[in-house]
Amino acid sequence: MGFLTSPALDDTGLVVLDRLDLSIDPAEWRGLEYVGWRSSGITRFAPLASYAGEIECNGFWNHTPPRTDKDGVWVAAQVAKAPTLQRLALEPGANLGRCRVIELQPNTYADAVYNLHQDDNNRLNADGTGWVVRSWLNLTDDADSLLILRSDRFDPATEIRLPLRAGSRIIVDTQRFWHAVWHRGPAPRYALITSWTSGPQLDAYIAEGNGDQHPTSVDLPAHLVAEAQTELHRRIEERRRALEAQGIVMEPVESLYE
Ligand SMILES: [Fe+2]
Repeated sequence: MGFLTSPALDDTGLVVLDRLDLSIDPAEWRGLEYVGWRSSGITRFAPLASYAGEIECNGFWNHTPPRTDKDGVWVAAQVAKAPTLQRLALEPGANLGRCRVIELQPNTYADAVYNLHQDDNNRLNADGTGWVVRSWLNLTDDADSLLILRSDRFDPATEIRLPLRAGSRIIVDTQRFWHAVWHRGPAPRYALITSWTSGPQLDAYIAEGNGDQHPTSVDLPAHLVAEAQTELHRRIEERRRALEAQGIVMEPVESLYE
């Protein structure tokens, strides 16, 4: 039968919506409770919706009973502090799974390339239902920072780089794309990340936001890209050796991140 997907993402796997003119009090994200959670780089997360409304970030499939990344339960104490963020997450009217604010510390382009990963949003998703995709809304104004996307983890020729101004809205099939953020800083970057289910509601939201499937990618100097590739392979080899010393054989593709 197959999954219900968004035509707007079928072609390229990503879509950039018109930038929102954000007028949100930063207290909405700064006042939240954050927990450490492994993602791309040095990160903390403030869950707004989780498996059961608790302040935790684990995949819904790691709970009992397990379920796919749908029907997230609002964390009352968090959304009380972030009503605008909750409203923005609800705006498409699509089913919503995990919803949280990510805090990312500054890093380098090479860090981002090493941190590239695919998500696992559709584990246990039922055939014939909507495919789960990821939405990013950048909260801080990080004009020099880039969302890095690659269809092939090791091939920079497949790379798309999207700037992260305040109000930037990007929806990505994060199982299709390897992704990570290069955040130049100096302050931490904050973004609202929501798992939305594909379907007519999401399609209408993308159309209303003038979704662009072919956004302009930012160019980077060739030497920077080449150096990051070398560093990527050096770090992978370093990790392989460290694990080998512990008697662990590294998987060709390591376990998926959040
Ligand atoms: Fe991810």
